Amino acid sequence: NRPKVLVSRKIPFKGLSLLREYCEVTVGAEDRMLTRKELLKLIEGKDGVLSMLTDQMDKEVMDAAPDLKVISNYAVGYDNIDITEATRRGISVTNTPDVLTDATADLAWALLMDVARRVTEGDRLNRKGKWKEWAPMFHLGKEVTGSVLGIVGFGRIGRAMVKRALGFDMEIVYFSRTRLSPAEEQRLGVRYLSFTDLLQHADFVSLHAPYTKETHHLIGADELSRMKATAYLINTSRGGLIDEKALLTALREGKIAGAGLDVYEMEPQLTPGLEKLENVVLAPHLGSATRETRELMAWRAAKNVLAELFDDMGQSNRVN
Ligand code: GLV
Ligand code: GLV
Repeated sequence: NRPKVLVSRKIPFKGLSLLREYCEVTVGAEDRMLTRKELLKLIEGKDGVLSMLTDQMDKEVMDAAPDLKVISNYAVGYDNIDITEATRRGISVTNTPDVLTDATADLAWALLMDVARRVTEGDRLNRKGKWKEWAPMFHLGKEVTGSVLGIVGFGRIGRAMVKRALGFDMEIVYFSRTRLSPAEEQRLGVRYLSFTDLLQHADFVSLHAPYTKETHHLIGADELSRMKATAYLINTSRGGLIDEKALLTALREGKIAGAGLDVYEMEPQLTPGLEKLENVVLAPHLGSATRETRELMAWRAAKNVLAELFDDMGQSNRVN
């Protein structure tokens, strides 16, 4: 009797084929997310689910699947899952760390470079035929090389930012809940600052903390007002880390120079007005979106289901 697994929507083939070797697999939808109603229906009788970050895995969903043993999230973030509820029911929750670290840091770097050098803004202008001629003072941006990078949250992705920043001769400061040892800081070439000091000192503030009750609106009007008027805010973590309305106001009023965003409070919706601003780059949640990484995530997420459902299938990336 093979275990029954729901994969909420189609993922790269490698993951699906691995799951199909051992389980009876239902794929929710080919090319869209499941509606709430569909999810509640399809999860009935399942032993495992491979969920997307767009699926709200809450008490009601768990109620619909009393035999559920594992929720394997196709993401490193798992704020879409009610962990307390899952743990209470003995349901394992897993994520896909490591495999998306570099892809996400690369995207954060792309946003940083883009907003600093006004690439997308220049592209828009160019396409509209508004580029008159090369000129000494035309479309000037901020020099990235030699500037100060402030990393908020110092997990895998935060650390991957360090490698990139070193190549740009940047001064690197970080803030996280737990501070590294002085020896480790020295080895990496980073300096610890309090959150407030980091906001005041950095030319680029890049967010790499998970979204939790504690990090909700980590950046609000007060924090934005502490940043330099010449500084940029980069977010590839979760939209809820930023009070998006406060950010809109700060960008409009020139309280900060710009922002590079990949994630949004109500994605795929943007706070109205954001789309009108020139000093913000708006990526559509692409952090892990490379062919290589998405395939590795599919493999990892499938392995995590198997590791939790069978005794001899190795270790999972369990988070609860
Ligand atoms: C994507 O946002 C992820 O958490 O993997
Ligand atoms: C994600 O993998 C992180 O720990 O930053």
